[in-house]
Amino acid sequence: MRRAHKEGYRSRAAYKLQQIHEKFNLLKPGKNIVDLGAAPGGWTQVATEKVLPDQTGCQVISLDISEMSPIPGAVILKGDLFDQETLEELIQKSQNKIDVVLCDMAAPSTGHSQTDHLRTMVLAEVALEVSLEVLSEGGAFVVKVLQGSDEPELFKKMNKYFSKVKRFKPGASRSDSTELYIIGQKYKKN
Ligand SMILES: C[S@@+](CC[C@H](N)C(=O)[O-])C[C@H]1O[C@@H](n2cnc3c(N)ncnc32)[C@H](O)[C@@H]1O
Repeated sequence: MRRAHKEGYRSRAAYKLQQIHEKFNLLKPGKNIVDLGAAPGGWTQVATEKVLPDQTGCQVISLDISEMSPIPGAVILKGDLFDQETLEELIQKSQNKIDVVLCDMAAPSTGHSQTDHLRTMVLAEVALEVSLEVLSEGGAFVVKVLQGSDEPELFKKMNKYFSKVKRFKPGASRSDSTELYIIGQKYKKN
């Protein structure tokens, strides 16, 4: 966190998205982004630095259930992704024109690995449903999962909707954590 703080990032998680971007090159200038589970804002900071909303006119829409202080260039929505009103607001704001949906959502850890795995998978499933709704043809979806019994099912499901699906563990993700990211590219709309 010290390095993140020194470099002006709100979270160490920022480096995970930087490394995902270095590998998959998803955050090009002008791309429209939705960031789910965005607080405190490290991923949103990285996303706005890369897509440059103020210069290109693109959108970065960041949602979290917790309060998040403003980030220049980003539209911040406060709400629970399971809440219908929040979902409708997000869909209405994104107008089906999103190029990349990012999801770093996590439930508070219980310390029981199977419970944590299942709770994260539920969040990832909802995020996938949202991405299928808001992404434009050819778009990408990045989602955090914890390895475990239900992860292969999500990986398989994503293969139905995206032409290219990969697992990736960024160097900034702790090696003793089961966390990894699934990256779906080239969304096949319909
Ligand atoms: C690991 S943090 C995200 C860190 C963020 N990517 C960053 O770079 O600062 C996970 C976030 O998911 C959010 N979250 C969990 N469940 C949610 C839900 N149902 N709806 C919206 N946000 C949720 C939490 O409030 C938390 O801020």
